[in-house]
Amino acid sequence: MRKIPASMFSRLCDGVTLTGRVAEDVPTFLRYHGCPKTARHSAQVAAEARRVAEYVGENVVQAEMAGWLHDCSALFPTLERANIARQWNIPVLPEEERLPMIIHQKLSRTLASEVFGVDDVLVLDAVECHTTLKANPTRLDKVVFVADKIAWDQDGIAPYYQKLAAALEQSLDHAVLVYLKYLWDRRHTLKVFHPWAREAYMQMSL
Ligand SMILES: [Fe+2]
Ligand SMILES: [Fe+2]
Repeated sequence: MRKIPASMFSRLCDGVTLTGRVAEDVPTFLRYHGCPKTARHSAQVAAEARRVAEYVGENVVQAEMAGWLHDCSALFPTLERANIARQWNIPVLPEEERLPMIIHQKLSRTLASEVFGVDDVLVLDAVECHTTLKANPTRLDKVVFVADKIAWDQDGIAPYYQKLAAALEQSLDHAVLVYLKYLWDRRHTLKVFHPWAREAYMQMSL
């Protein structure tokens, strides 16, 4: 496989001083690249991921770290994401070609590793599927997925919020399923129903 030149990533950090502490470095990096809104959203998801992890007995440190990192690729314009993924040897699915916004979860994984030096595979995996989930998710994947849906990045309160919050009192899986079913029920009106979300829903709704 073609090696990605390290300069490609170091260039992104020209002018940014990284400390090695993700909770400081991610917001610094995002603000430097003109994404203050994503920096605020990442703080909210990190806090929410920590809260959900504590509530369901998952690792709070990994959850918070994945929350900080999950949208760290927001600096890349949507229409450039498929090309960037290919440059970084990341496979791009046909559904992602049609809706390149979704590719940010894969790009965030690579940046988490290459720019922020994270090597915890559980954290990287959770970052990579935070938008869509996937088949056979870990509990950390589910925690970060749910946290991102609770602390959503649009105005107002998410339309599924009450249902999801109530379901979380039952279990993490119930909460995950509320959001996947919300997508499933709208699959014919969505521009793309990502295959990873489809597989997760099929598996969890059995
Ligand atoms: Fe995201
Ligand atoms: Fe997000």
